Order: sequence, then C-alpha cells, then structure tokens
Amino acid sequence: MGRVLKVLLFWSVLSAAYIAYQWKDTFDPAVLSGRRVLVTGASKGIGEQIAYHYARFGSQIVITARTESALKKVAEKCLQLGSPKVWYIPADMSDLEDPNRVLRFALDKLGGLDYLVLNHIGSTFFQMWNGDVEHIRVLMQANFLSYAQMVSSGLPFLKQSNGSIIAVSSIAAKIPSPFTIPYTATKSAVNGFFGSLQHELSMQKVNVSITLCSLGLIDTETALSKVKGVIDTMSAYPASGAALEVIKGGATRQNEIFYPWYWQLVCAIRDWFPGYRDSVIQSSYKYNP
Ligand SMILES: NC(=O)c1ccc[n+]([C@@H]2O[C@H](COP(=O)([O-])OP(=O)(O)OC[C@H]3O[C@@H](n4cnc5c(N)ncnc54)[C@H](OP(=O)(O)O)[C@@H]3O)[C@@H](O)[C@H]2O)c1
Ligand SMILES: *[C@@H]1O[C@H](CO)[C@@H](O)[C@H](O)[C@H]1NC(C)=O
Ligand SMILES: *[C@@H]1O[C@H](CO)[C@@H](O)[C@H](O)[C@H]1NC(C)=O
Repeated sequence: MGRVLKVLLFWSVLSAAYIAYQWKDTFDPAVLSGRRVLVTGASKGIGEQIAYHYARFGSQIVITARTESALKKVAEKCLQLGSPKVWYIPADMSDLEDPNRVLRFALDKLGGLDYLVLNHIGSTFFQMWNGDVEHIRVLMQANFLSYAQMVSSGLPFLKQSNGSIIAVSSIAAKIPSPFTIPYTATKSAVNGFFGSLQHELSMQKVNVSITLCSLGLIDTETALSKVKGVIDTMSAYPASGAALEVIKGGATRQNEIFYPWYWQLVCAIRDWFPGYRDSVIQSSYKYNP
C-alpha cells in the first residue's frame, strides 16, 4: 500500500504542476455580451445559475424546463441581473416533440443561436437497479436523445454563427458508481455522442465548438437529497461555481472541463489500480443488504 501511495503522490505532484502550467484564464466576459443563448434545465440547480451568469455578462437568453412558475421567476431575475432580453418556454424533454419545439422557439425569439447549453436531466432514483428497463428508456429520451435532437436541429444555425454546444455531463460517465445505473448509462451516451461529434466537426473543419463538462458532486437540492445518509465522504461543490466554469469552458471553446478541477487528475489515473479504486468507491456507500 505504501508503494501505491508513493506512486500516486509522485504522479499527483507531476500532474498538478502540469495543470498549473496549462492554467491560463483566457476568459473574456465581453465575448458573451449580446450573445444568443439557450439554456435547458434552467428552472433550478446548476442550470438556473448558468442563466444568471449569462445574464450578468449581458447575454440574451431563452430558458426552458417543465415548471412554468419557476421559469418565470428565473427570467425576471435574469433581467434584473443585466440580460437585455429573456424568454422562457415550458417543455418536457421526455416528450418526443418538445426538444425540437424548444429549439424552434429559441431560434425564432433570438434570431439565431450562439450557445446551446444542454443541462437538463429527468428525475431518477438513487438506489440499486430493480431491473426496470422502461425507466431507462424514458430517461434515455430525457437525458440523451433530447440532446441529440436539439443538436441535430440546432447545428445548421450554430454553423452560421461559429457557435458552441455545451453539454453538462458527470464524472459518473467516466468512473461508474453504484446506485445510478440508468443515470450513468444516459450520461455515458452523452459523452460518447459528443466525443465522436467533436472528431467529425473537426475533420469537416466545421467551426462549432463542443464543451463536455464533467462535474463532480454539486450542492443542488436534487443531488444533496439523494446522497444524504448514503455517501458522507464526498463534499459537494457550489452550483454557482460549477455554472461559471461551464460558461467559461464554452466561451473559451474548450473540448472538456472538469469541476472541481481535481477530477481531471482522478480520471487520468482511473485505471491504474482498478481493484483499489473499486473498493474505495464501494466502501464510500452505506449499504446493508
Ligand atoms: N448536482 C450534481 O451533483 C451533479 C453532478 C454531476 C453532474 N450534474 C449534471 O448537472 C446538470 C444539472 O443538474 P442539477 O443538479 O442542477 O439538477 P436539478 O437541480 O435537478 O435541475 C434539473 C433541471 O432539469 C429540469 N427537468 C427535470 N426533468 C425535466 C424534463 N423531463 N424535461 C425538461 N426539463 C426537466 C428541472 O426543472 P423542472 O423540474 O421544472 O422540469 C431543472 O430545471 C445535469 O446534467 C446533471 O447530470 C449534476
Ligand atoms: C466564422 O468564422 C469564419 C472563419 O472560420 C469567418 O470567416 C466568419 O466570418 C465567421 N462568421 C461569424 C458569423 O462570425
Ligand atoms: C471559430 O470561431 C470563433 C468564434 O467566432 C473564432 O474566434 C475562431 O477564430 C474561429 N476559428 C477558426 C479556425 O476559424
């Protein structure tokens, strides 16, 4: 064990130095002023904070989620924070038609699109899988197929604007963990889809950037209520901080961002000691069969 720790420590120092070397904050908030942004899942949580940051930077925003009353409040706050124009549209992303309806609404109101921020997720459980495939099917539509639909209909317009797609994903897609089988499956689909699409756009010399966001545990109500009493060893990071990193990653056209940053290191050494990794993951869950 001592040797493993030494190797890990050596490697961590090396990577921290590498990251520090790479770390230049090239983000210029002025590039977001007047930009046309669509944010999904923006009625609460990280999406709400994403909308507020864009508002502070002076972007025009369309927000969507299912709950109209919450959207209305978020839209009002965006106007107060400095957004020149804000619209909202209630929609259910587990519906087959709604993703395209939302995209058409945004194009109509904004007159084009610079940033497509895909952030929503449908609700799911935090427990062992009971064999329910139908739930996975519904969640695939909400968490993944709706993303593919919106990319399909939004890409021609993003090409015109040299625009950007931001996909909010999870560390769970890089390091699978228990209790989240349907969720992790949908996020893995998201990662695979956007990873492949990055190659294809680059090979076609299409100037639309894709930023895949690998987030760790964030302090949204949804996430905290789920892990409470089950995982105590992991601290949750602030939604507003996550939202800002997501926006910066998109504005600086990064292929991928990690928040909190140390997940980049963890992912880099993910497969070095798989047995050790898996026992650490499993023992961090309280589970008594
Ligand atoms: N929080 C974390 O620890 C964490 C960690 C890693 C990654 N992430 C990722 O971060 C993103 C945001 O997560 P969050 O924690 O902020 O979630 P959240 O607080 O639960 O917010 C989810 C948003 O999606 C909307 N939504 C839910 N079901 C929907 C549906 N069927 N159709 C359309 N909209 C729907 C919700 O509004 P309505 O209910 O009004 O529809 C809400 O605006 C997700 O992609 C998530 O995977 C989060
Ligand atoms: C998009 O970028 C190209 C160069 O890749 C440039 O010629 C064009 O003017 C840009 N279009 C917009 C709308 O910024
Ligand atoms: C792509 O578009 C961005 C944003 O308009 C621009 O800054 C960049 O120079 C473009 N890149 C290429 C290779 O044309």
